[in-house]
Amino acid sequence: MAVTIRDVAEHAGVSVATASRVLTGSRNVSPVLAQRVNDAARALGYRHNAVASALRRGRTNTVGMIVPEIENPFFPAIVEAVERRLQGSGRDLFLCDAQQDVAIERHRARALANRQVDGLIIVPVSSTASRATLVEVTERTPVVQVDRYVQEYPADWVGVDDQHGISLAVEHVMALGATRVAFVSAALESSSAQARHAGFERMIERNGLPHDTPRLLGTFRAEWGRAAAIELLAHPPMPDAVVCGNDEIAVGVLGEFRRKRVRVPEDVLVTGFDDIRFAQLADPPLTTVRQPGDQLAAECIRLLDARMADRDTPIQRVAIAPSLVIRESTGGSS
Ligand code: RIB
Repeated sequence: MAVTIRDVAEHAGVSVATASRVLTGSRNVSPVLAQRVNDAARALGYRHNAVASALRRGRTNTVGMIVPEIENPFFPAIVEAVERRLQGSGRDLFLCDAQQDVAIERHRARALANRQVDGLIIVPVSSTASRATLVEVTERTPVVQVDRYVQEYPADWVGVDDQHGISLAVEHVMALGATRVAFVSAALESSSAQARHAGFERMIERNGLPHDTPRLLGTFRAEWGRAAAIELLAHPPMPDAVVCGNDEIAVGVLGEFRRKRVRVPEDVLVTGFDDIRFAQLADPPLTTVRQPGDQLAAECIRLLDARMADRDTPIQRVAIAPSLVIRESTGGSS
């Protein structure tokens, strides 16, 4: 006969509810009682059956999360912030990497829904091709988009105001005298790449900057930043500022300029986007648009909890204002 939570509770001299909270990892139990329950469970050889517990309670205390490319340092930072907050409410995070592939993204979303996660947080790979996945998975579980979103699809979203973020970077380099501003970013597949590009073009238009400055669109990877810098150096005149779609690209640009003895910021200003941990360690330290990861995580979980509480609650789209962090790559100090 399998040992039950009731057996453990009686052995520990606590209520079944207390024993259940301890055995399902809740933090709302005193250390003394938690110790008594865990000692009783060990003494009786109790094994918590998460599946049986989930069936009984109608929830698994798990949340799924899918990010487009876990290798990019922006994503682990936001995953860590989300996981830390979920732990505070006794929930576990199941993380999947879409590897920048919408087919993998859909497979992972199905797998998480099949495992009855209580909700799903997704950073969609594509603003269009990811729509089919959202249509399918929102039928089965509450979904919140964070950072990126799918175009024309009614799902909660929280992210930074990408266009405003790029405007901060362009205004900054213009204030330092730049007139020939190049843009290096990712191809227009994701909503963040699209919005940052739109923000750049809006600033070129509004400020009467030359329209013939390069816009080099590839990936959000440092390798692309290096390739773009080689392209800029091969086709003079050089810009006097390079605004990058994210920090990884900017690090690639800085490395190639250093290799070719182009001085930053003396010869050219460089800015990034994200403020990943390595931005301040770049050479020179990178001026960048900061995404407030903790705030994004908090808002994302607030939206998810609201959707889990009421599937019909009105859709919310929350754009958080990013901030500019000025460092040596544009003449500031860290
Ligand atoms: O660095 C990867 C980029 O894609 C980040 O800026 C983040 O916003 C994501 O959308």
